[in-house]
Amino acid sequence: MDTPKPTYGISDLSSILVSKEDIASRVAELGKDLNEFYGNQHVTVICILSGALLFTSDILRHLTFPTQLDCLRAESYGNNTESASKPRITNPLKNTVEGKHVLVIDDILDSGKTLKSISEYLKQANPLSVKTCVMLDKKERRETEIAADFVGFDIPNAFAVGYGLDFAEHYRNLSSIGVLKEEFQVAPKD
Ligand code: IMP
Ligand code: MG
Repeated sequence: MDTPKPTYGISDLSSILVSKEDIASRVAELGKDLNEFYGNQHVTVICILSGALLFTSDILRHLTFPTQLDCLRAESYGNNTESASKPRITNPLKNTVEGKHVLVIDDILDSGKTLKSISEYLKQANPLSVKTCVMLDKKERRETEIAADFVGFDIPNAFAVGYGLDFAEHYRNLSSIGVLKEEFQVAPKD
C-alpha cells in the first residue's frame, strides 16, 4: 500500500482541538487579564521563537500597558515529536532585562523543560519580575515542576499543530489548532 502523503493543510489533522474563533476570544480574555495584572507598568514581552510568533502578535494587540518586544529562540525538538535534549538558547535577547518586568510568551507548555530553562536564564539578569503566558498547557506531560502564570487552554496529551505550532516547521500557518494524524508524525529524511 502507498504511504499517505501530507498536504500540510487541515486535512492532515485527525481532530481540531481549538478553533480559530475560540483562539480569538481566549486571546482577548488573556489580554484583559494581563492588562489588569500589569496596570500601567512597563513590561518587556519576550516571544519564544518560532512557535509563539502568532500568539504573541495577537496578544500584543490587546495590551494597553507600555511594552518592549524581544525574542528568544530555544531548541530541543529537532524534527521529532519528543524533546531530544536539554533546551539550548540559540538566539539571545537583544536588550538586557535587568530591572525590567518580563513577560515570557510561549506556544505550549509540555514537559516544561523549555520554559524552566528560559526562566532560569532570564533570572540571571536580575529582572524585577518574570511571568509566563502560554497558549496551550499539556499538564499530563510535565516532567519538571513549573506552571505558567497565564494559560490559554489545557489540552490532552496529543501532538498539536497550527497557530504557530509545528511539526518539522510545517503547519505553523494553520489558523486553528489540531492533532496531527499519526501517519504524518514521521521525521522527514534529509
Ligand atoms: P517542553 O520543553 O517539553 O515544555 O516543550 C516546549 C516546546 O516544545 C514548545 O515551545 C514547542 O515548540 C514544542 N512542543 C511541545 N509540544 C508540542 C506539540 O504538541 N506540538 C508542537 N510543538 C510542541
Ligand atoms: Mg517547535
